[in-house]
Amino acid sequence: MHNIQISYPQNIIFGENSIEQIGESIPENLQNNVLIVSGKHSIQSGLVAQIAKKFKNTQIYSDIPPEAPLEGVQKLVNFAKTKKITAICAIGGGSVIDSAKCAAAIIPLEGSVKDYFYAKKTISKKGLFFVAVPTTAGSGAEITKNSVLKDTETEIKQSIRHITMIPDIAIIDPILTLSCPKKLTAACGMDALTQAIESYTTVKANSITKSLASCAVKKIYNNLNECCNTPSAICARTEVAEGSLLSAMAFSQSGLGAVHGLAHPIGSKWNIPHGEICSILLPHILELNSTVSDTEYSELGIQCNATSTKGFIDNIKKLSKEIGISNNLKCYSTDKNDIDFIIKNSRSNSMLGNPRFISDNEIVTLLEKL
Ligand SMILES: [Fe+2]
Repeated sequence: MHNIQISYPQNIIFGENSIEQIGESIPENLQNNVLIVSGKHSIQSGLVAQIAKKFKNTQIYSDIPPEAPLEGVQKLVNFAKTKKITAICAIGGGSVIDSAKCAAAIIPLEGSVKDYFYAKKTISKKGLFFVAVPTTAGSGAEITKNSVLKDTETEIKQSIRHITMIPDIAIIDPILTLSCPKKLTAACGMDALTQAIESYTTVKANSITKSLASCAVKKIYNNLNECCNTPSAICARTEVAEGSLLSAMAFSQSGLGAVHGLAHPIGSKWNIPHGEICSILLPHILELNSTVSDTEYSELGIQCNATSTKGFIDNIKKLSKEIGISNNLKCYSTDKNDIDFIIKNSRSNSMLGNPRFISDNEIVTLLEKL
């Protein structure tokens, strides 16, 4: 058993209409100039305007590209520096929260986002007060200590991480996910499911993270289909949002596995949304891992109405089909010449956390199969 250290936001506020509490989430002395960072959708829906009214004075920034590229975060940092921002509130999906979280950390520091991305500089102190409000259920970025960013020049996708980057407050209101489109709901849900499953078998899993991950698998597996096919089903949305939170509470402490090790370089190189590539890889990595994790997969199978590892993997495949995610890479633009890049950039902490070693040859075979 490893030593256990658990680190979460100082407050996690969960539930329908919890967004109403956002005005009190930021200390009054930091409300003079709150920067609201959001996606375009939250501006159009009126959510940003509704939230802005809760603070004394706000600036709004919505120029956040998908997949959190370095240059997008640098633009945000530059903007915030000129406006003398006192706190940041991020409203959106994983890219918005990761971009804003990274900006909040770097704004008070010297150097560029790239310096921290390539570890030329390290984060030395707590950044701006940061509140995260997810509008999708899946990434877990609202409670984690890292930002997954992409260098569009080198196509490297990796994290800037520091314990002080954990958001100060996370407000998770399932009502905000009701307008999330089907494709995004499906991809984010499969990301959360993958994160929970990987957390359950990672080398750093412990009884606390396994309890959280197991409960997450049950909630996400049993409700994601309804969320995708009946978007207004608030009970199912709440279950998946809660499952996603539990999944993040588990993996943020235990780490992840080979699906995430491979998903970052593949997604970056071949422009595949993160949740979709996780979903495509998941059953194949489960099959490879089943030689060492058969007991754990059978246990998770019980949460997914299955009685064996095979039944568990079959049910995962069935769910991803029902919610419209591809089971192969044929509809994406792929290139065999990129396989070396993928292997080289897959050997991350996630890959090290996988319950068994996955060899270069196994990666090649898997990619050829897909
Ligand atoms: Fe993920």
